Amino acid sequence: MRVILRDCTILTATRYYKGVDILVEGERISRICRNLNEEADLEINCSRGILVPGVIDPHVHLREPGQEYKEDFSTGTMAALAGGITTVLDMPNNSPPIDSEERLLLKMNKVRKKANVDFGLYITREYSKRAVAMKTYLCETPNVEYSEEYLRECVSNSRGITAFHAEDQEVINKEGRTLRAEIEGVRKVNSFPVEKRYFCHLTSMESTLMANGIVEVTPHHLILSKTDRKEYSVNPPLRDKLTVRSLWTSLNYGYVQVIASDHAPHTEDEKKEGVPGFPGLETLLPSVLTYFQKMRIPLTKAIKLLTHYYKILGIEKGDVTEGYYADLVLLSKKERKVDSTEFFSKCNFSPFEGMKFRYWPIFTMLRGKLAYSEGEIIEERLGKEILGLRTMQSL
Ligand code: NCD
Ligand code: ZN
Ligand code: ZN
Repeated sequence: MRVILRDCTILTATRYYKGVDILVEGERISRICRNLNEEADLEINCSRGILVPGVIDPHVHLREPGQEYKEDFSTGTMAALAGGITTVLDMPNNSPPIDSEERLLLKMNKVRKKANVDFGLYITREYSKRAVAMKTYLCETPNVEYSEEYLRECVSNSRGITAFHAEDQEVINKEGRTLRAEIEGVRKVNSFPVEKRYFCHLTSMESTLMANGIVEVTPHHLILSKTDRKEYSVNPPLRDKLTVRSLWTSLNYGYVQVIASDHAPHTEDEKKEGVPGFPGLETLLPSVLTYFQKMRIPLTKAIKLLTHYYKILGIEKGDVTEGYYADLVLLSKKERKVDSTEFFSKCNFSPFEGMKFRYWPIFTMLRGKLAYSEGEIIEERLGKEILGLRTMQSL
């Protein structure tokens, strides 16, 4: 299959340029030039939007196996496609948790057939080379039985990248999920002898500056601040306005490497009861690009933070360049309100409900195939396990 994308305005982690055509052959981009003189099976005019590389969301909870009533791999990866995300890395706090290679392989076999985007799976407690990375929780978390022994095992089995939920249980026991709990968590993680530390969802300048490793932040901690409403419960909690501002400063100065959604869907009733977690796959790109523009930070930097994890993994994605996989997303510049009733996610709640964002995906192409277009999933189950797509070991 040959596809030509005509008259593209391209935004990547390093460049913004106009008026080029892209030839896609099979799974990859084969040529990028002006006035491409070639024939193709399909031609798409892209002049009405901005073309960006499909992004990677390295922190999602798609709830399968065990809690498919909240989300499943099919709906979760449809939400990803609709959000312009072509790779997701799924967390291990399933029910039961993915804490052995046996459970990882069972999960893999189950979800592989349903994946609408490329995916990798995290493991906790045990190491497995079939997992994309390890995940360790420093506090009680849904489906993970936290204990000192659990933590010791995680650290001693750790190899490669280890992602940490770094809120310290001892501080939480004393004063709740305060910023001090996060800072103490980061201090502890810094002392663990692991190969590559990855800090999930940090929320302040202080913790991001302290963290010795890769730092992830989420759109909700960048855009929203503390409220008393139960539905806005999330771990770590939303912070006060000053802390939110400090997180932007930290990002601006280069202390943040990754933005991820921490897509954590729950039912409407669960949200009303205050169960922590927000869905975020469908709002990740629009929210981040809209707010970077508001904060006058170059949009190239947003794409950099939304694609950096591909570099960590050594996958030829996350850029619009010849030879790379054709994961391409056309974004509309039109402003639209967040309406969670339109989500593919089973979670019809959004902490951004009613907010106006630009840069909503018009179409999403996954490895050369048009998988999503104008509100519809065009081709299902194209997703592959990303371990097979890796070209180099970057650790
Ligand atoms: C996550 C969940 O629901 O699985 N919840 C959350 O508030 N972020 C767990 C987590 O990421 O800590
Ligand atoms: Zn977490
Ligand atoms: Zn999470």
